Amino acid sequence: MRIDIITVLPEMIEGFLNCSILKRAQDKGLAEICLHYLRDFTHDKHRRVDDYPYGGIAGMVMKIEPIENCINFLKSQREYDDIIFTTPDGEQFSQPMANELSLKKNLIILCGHFKGIDYRIREHLITREISIGDYVLTGGELAAAVMTDAIVRLLPGVISDEQSALSDSFQDNLLAPPVYTRPADYKGWKVPEVLLSGHEAKILEWNLNQAYERTKRLRPDLLK
Ligand code: ADE
Repeated sequence: MRIDIITVLPEMIEGFLNCSILKRAQDKGLAEICLHYLRDFTHDKHRRVDDYPYGGIAGMVMKIEPIENCINFLKSQREYDDIIFTTPDGEQFSQPMANELSLKKNLIILCGHFKGIDYRIREHLITREISIGDYVLTGGELAAAVMTDAIVRLLPGVISDEQSALSDSFQDNLLAPPVYTRPADYKGWKVPEVLLSGHEAKILEWNLNQAYERTKRLRPDLLK
């Protein structure tokens, strides 16, 4: 899978993308993640990517031209399944959406900035608008990083234990059950007996019950 991220602040996510599991996924050739610096796609001598908004409102707006240039350049190289724009007024990102996007071959993520982008970009170039939550970030870079992380870790072979992505919280609309490691007794804080029993069916049942109880207590909305 390939993800192309268009941004005015590549340095904000570069380190993140080249660490840990995302780095390993790229080193193994399972994911290709490419950053594109929007200012490289202007013809403006000052390399401006924003301008004043019509209508006198405050703030700056991202211009159409560099964004269209960059998207057209990428589209001339390969076909894209979706061209995503990160924005707080988009549809809410979720685990099912990460699952769905992880099945795509090529994605573009355009990071929003300033007051917004010229709405015509959203009307004519963008195929999907996604928010990572009901709060406003200074830009879309963190949203792009969050989505890329959630998507890439689902690709086959990225996480060594294939089961572990499937047993994540949210995969079945349940929060994950608690997990423990050695020692079984730490200063009197004990690991639940059933997990030490070796009885597979009982352990499975305990995990399911715990997942259900935690979800009921912490995220009852997921059970509706
Ligand atoms: N840009 C600013 N805030 C955002 C959010 N919550 N989700 C996605 N992109 C954003």
